[in-house]
Amino acid sequence: MKVLRFAEVCASGFVANKRVFIRADLNVPQADDGRITEDTRIRASVPCIQMALEAGAAVMVTSHLGRPTEGEFKPADSLAPVAKRLGELLGREVPLLANWVNADCSSNDRSASSNDSSASPSGVQVQPGQVVLLENCRVNKGEKKCDDSLSQKMASLCDIFVHDAFGTAHRAEGTTYGIAKYAPIACAGPLLAAEIDAISQALANPKRPLAAIVAGSKVSTKLTILKSLANNVDQLIVGGGIANTFMLAAGLKIGKSLAEPDLVDEAKAVMAVMKARGAEVPIPTDVVCAKTFAADAPATIKRATDVSDDDMILDIGPETAAKLAAQLKAAGTIVWNGPVGVFEFAAFENGTKTIAHAIAESKAFSIAGGGDTLAAIAKYGIEKQVGYISTGGGAFLEVLEGKTLPAFEILMKRAQS
Ligand code: 3PG
Ligand code: MG
Repeated sequence: MKVLRFAEVCASGFVANKRVFIRADLNVPQADDGRITEDTRIRASVPCIQMALEAGAAVMVTSHLGRPTEGEFKPADSLAPVAKRLGELLGREVPLLANWVNADCSSNDRSASSNDSSASPSGVQVQPGQVVLLENCRVNKGEKKCDDSLSQKMASLCDIFVHDAFGTAHRAEGTTYGIAKYAPIACAGPLLAAEIDAISQALANPKRPLAAIVAGSKVSTKLTILKSLANNVDQLIVGGGIANTFMLAAGLKIGKSLAEPDLVDEAKAVMAVMKARGAEVPIPTDVVCAKTFAADAPATIKRATDVSDDDMILDIGPETAAKLAAQLKAAGTIVWNGPVGVFEFAAFENGTKTIAHAIAESKAFSIAGGGDTLAAIAKYGIEKQVGYISTGGGAFLEVLEGKTLPAFEILMKRAQS
């Protein structure tokens, strides 16, 4: 996938004194009082900002936070906590600018300012070597629908647009797509580039065996991914409600476990595709059951053939976990999305914990993504032993589905023109 990379633009020496507009994904989880509870995405945005500052650019950064109503800015939508955290990470103050799209641009035009691009043609005041954070881009009217005139206005603020928001790369919005159509130069930031390199390394030319773990409550939300991976991976390990539906497809009883019986045929089709290639969907041979969904529900380990009508399967059993762990340790590449059991409850965490440790100990190149998966990685402290941890949730899944994300589509087009 050929896109222009910001590192190349910097290396060409073109960036000094230019106005650089970076779209980052700083959409981080916050507590009710606004405190940031997890700052991975902010930390991941730092290298791009530093690259721009070191190259001598006047740097504008923006992101969305949550899903605010356009045109109605509320204090809870503010990137202020993010500006503070970013400032700590960069070791400098990061001013936050509101109403930045329609800031006064009456007195200058771009040609008049072309020799001194820091003298802004817009009202965004930022000098080379400085960085400002532009307030939540999703409060701007037209952002979500990628309004053309909004996109053009935003593009006129900069000389170079850098897309570094992998977590939002599956959205075609004003700051993730529209601005890239009109900015004089549009390129991929280092995080966006690294994410794509890592995922392509895992899927396009993987060291085999290639094992994928796709877990979660519903087959329906991950059916496209399962179908697409069925044509590529050697082991497709399913977990959670998805595994229950596959157990039904394999002719097993699952009691009152979460499943989608109407998707049993789809599950059978995935298994058939895998089997025809000499690959497999490992079906659990033992499971951990409870009568209710609760942290203190008594847990019983059962053979997969012995699940009774009032049982709920909440985890894979130790025999299954050990078998999967052995496969993961022998794998060349591992893609991980989703915990295989209710790992938030101690009695039902063994499967996910065993898999996490197997991934950590495996020599395979591993790549993981998705909110629950990141929570499991943090819980078992294996961050350093995972080859690549994606900052994307929905975007990560869409790349696994084999889709070309809108962010790449437009950057590829721009690279060709
Ligand atoms: C995410 O958190 O998944 C991204 O920041 C995208 O946010 P969105 O789902 O609100 O578009
Ligand atoms: Mg989301």
